Amino acid sequence: KEYNVAILGATGAVGRRMIDQLAKSTIPVKNVKLLASYRSAGTKLKFRDQELTVEETTPESFDGIDLVLSSAGGSVSKKFLPEAVKRGAVCVDNTSAFRMEPDVPLVVPEVNPEALKHHHGIIANPNCSTIQMVMALEPIRRKFGLKQIIVSTYQAASGAGQSAIEELKNEAQDYLDGKDMQEAAHILPTKGDKKHYPLAFNLLPQIDVLEDSGYSHEEWKMIHETKKIMLNDMNAKDIKVTATCVRVPVPIAHGESVYFTVEDKNATAQDIMDVIAKFPGDVLQDDIKHQIYPQPINAEGSRDTFVGRIRPDYENPGAFNMWVVADNLLKGAAWNTVENAEYLVKMNLI
Ligand code: A2P
Repeated sequence: KEYNVAILGATGAVGRRMIDQLAKSTIPVKNVKLLASYRSAGTKLKFRDQELTVEETTPESFDGIDLVLSSAGGSVSKKFLPEAVKRGAVCVDNTSAFRMEPDVPLVVPEVNPEALKHHHGIIANPNCSTIQMVMALEPIRRKFGLKQIIVSTYQAASGAGQSAIEELKNEAQDYLDGKDMQEAAHILPTKGDKKHYPLAFNLLPQIDVLEDSGYSHEEWKMIHETKKIMLNDMNAKDIKVTATCVRVPVPIAHGESVYFTVEDKNATAQDIMDVIAKFPGDVLQDDIKHQIYPQPINAEGSRDTFVGRIRPDYENPGAFNMWVVADNLLKGAAWNTVENAEYLVKMNLI
């Protein structure tokens, strides 16, 4: 069987990479439709060697579509994906719109592929920072059991879209030119909030909106998505999770400092390295003698999750620190979405 595929948000930072990842995937593609808003209707983009014209999205855009890959923002997904499902399509959605709905699987294919079997037309792609963290922790959980996770993130500008990368570059240029950076700050820390601050030569401890609890919504997502993916219950108590999310002046690829405790008190750092090295999609980069450790500039463009600096907490047996880096636009978004679609095809679920 060959599939008619629509990419919703095709002109965005993630959407453009979805086109590329689909072109490189094992999915038998019959036709591709590129969808965005009226603003970019008419734009020409390439899928393999075909030149395609971007169309404005309407409910009728999904007539005859088998598979939708979407990354155009939560409100756009809420509006159009039910229309696509009504017309018989299966949707893999990269936004947070449906992630916490009980009947929507939240899937990292290497971690919980079985959840795909229970879909009702929509599969949610987790948040970028959650994906790379569970990629690093799942092999550890399977072998040694996980009790607690304490994560601090170092997140790239591109998580807020293509325009946030431009904003970072403009601020950096202003700084070098001796100008005030504030004038270039329009989006970060988050479009939806009142104040905007420069990211260049700075750190912003706010990703998404701040909630009354004191946590940012990004931190909330990391806590509850991790539980839903690993334990199939967003409020599960079996693993304790807490997070601090920080935006750093890096264009692409997130870093994470992850502190975790395991049930098996005899586990060594070498044991942890061994299970990570064997896990599909993970690459161990941990050779301190040669100063080898994961870095965003090396992870950019790769589908893999890179893990290094694995070391025990000497004062707390069964506890470890590690450093995790992945391309937030690929494994954190476009690739994980297309990979979910590959699994749906392989598992005969479309
Ligand atoms: P457009 O280019 O027409 O604005 P990013 O996350 O990089 O900012 O990209 C957002 C993507 O979502 C873009 O492809 C954008 O298209 C698309 N988009 C934004 N609003 C809508 C909408 N109302 N309907 C369809 N696509 C939308």
